Amino acid sequence: MSSQVILPSDPRFIFNPMSPEYDRDPYPILSVLREHAPVYEIPGFGALFLSCHAHVVEALSDESRFSGDRMLWENWQPPPPEHSEHPVIRMLSSNLLSAEGAEHTRLRKLASAALTRRAVKHLDPLMHSLADELIDAFIERGGCDFAKEFAEIFPVNIVSRLMGIARDSDRERRFKTLADSVVVAFNPMCSEEEKLHSLHSMTVHMEEVRELMEEKRANPGEDLMTDMVHAEDDTDRGFTPDEILGTLMTIIVAGSETTANSLSFGMIELLKHPDQLARFRDDPACRANAAAEIVRHQHPGRFLIRYAKSDTEIGGAPVRKGQMLFLSVPSANRDPAVIEDPDRFDILRTPHDSSSFGIGRHFCIGAQLARLELDVALGHVVERLANLELVGSFEGIGYRSNPAVRGPASLPIRFVPGQHLGAAEEDSLRRSA
Ligand code: HEM
Repeated sequence: MSSQVILPSDPRFIFNPMSPEYDRDPYPILSVLREHAPVYEIPGFGALFLSCHAHVVEALSDESRFSGDRMLWENWQPPPPEHSEHPVIRMLSSNLLSAEGAEHTRLRKLASAALTRRAVKHLDPLMHSLADELIDAFIERGGCDFAKEFAEIFPVNIVSRLMGIARDSDRERRFKTLADSVVVAFNPMCSEEEKLHSLHSMTVHMEEVRELMEEKRANPGEDLMTDMVHAEDDTDRGFTPDEILGTLMTIIVAGSETTANSLSFGMIELLKHPDQLARFRDDPACRANAAAEIVRHQHPGRFLIRYAKSDTEIGGAPVRKGQMLFLSVPSANRDPAVIEDPDRFDILRTPHDSSSFGIGRHFCIGAQLARLELDVALGHVVERLANLELVGSFEGIGYRSNPAVRGPASLPIRFVPGQHLGAAEEDSLRRSA
């Protein structure tokens, strides 16, 4: 460790996991924390920040000591009445991500019904055609904003196709508006005004989703909505329409920005490593592995949150009942204690049993879908766009200010339209440019 590094014990040490510097590259400071303060109390906030793989795994796996239920937080305040009594908020209150025990098992059954292996497999051809449609829209320009014109659109459209919404329909466009509003409503950084505006928009569009549910009940199809409506009928207590809608909203929130950011991070890492880009393009068999490495190397989340159920300890440090714990999955994924040369991006790396998609009860229900989205979508991009290049510098990439996820706000790229060229042709094009 160089003498220039300011250690966490030094009063000059500043750790702000929301700052633009952290967004650009959180890994140097995460490495300092892992080595010198693996259980770090964030000054003035009272929460603990866990950066080692072993502690992250422990907090995620031990349900008897840690929970995702935010009402257990020592500083928990009920939301203001204009929010808590809002029909959309009431519907979202039985949220899969914060539910525990039997209630979680019950809601999870509903979400699993929607994302069965069969449903995901069924999406494979849809993914190929959606990737082509999005590329068709910008290919002739020889450049695009990859984050805005591809990465942000692809995952939401996949969920809407998964629901059986016809492509390029008015309903698909309205569904995109609904999804955008859900993401805003879940973002604690938004102003109260923005939140109320998005809640209003959600209320309007929700009626349409209810209509779609009725249509699927009358005319079942091979889609997520049909599976969810039937799951409602299959359980002992039955699922209410609000639970179905709430689960759908959770799937939108959990599955859209995470995957969008991973698509952009995947593009960035491939651009930074031309040899691996060539491998990814020429050898489709390595793409599934590459998808796992993209999510490990640049995890799109900031941290997961858990609360202590009683006084306890972790890594030898005391934890108060109700204390909040930030579990840094990005840091756990770069922990040299469990992964060799963790800062190296290597799409051929033997897949590591990382915590990218969570562990235990809340393990990501869309993990298989997300990996397939990265494999198919990035595969199409590298096959159809030759001589891919970033416009500007990697250091200049701007990031979104979202407290839950980390990812580029904009990613301008340029390319030569057309199927990829051979290495020699690419080389000669580069020389003549
Ligand atoms: C690269 C993309 C993704 C990453 C990195 C990711 C990561 C995660 C992680 C870490 C968790 C655990 C949360 C916790 O323990 O608190 C989680 C849960 C979840 N994810 Fe994902 N996810 C991704 C994509 C998706 C997709 C595509 C969907 C669905 C379309 C999805 C749906 C869910 C749901 C519903 C949960 C909650 C499960 C539960 O609480 O039982 N995710 N995800």
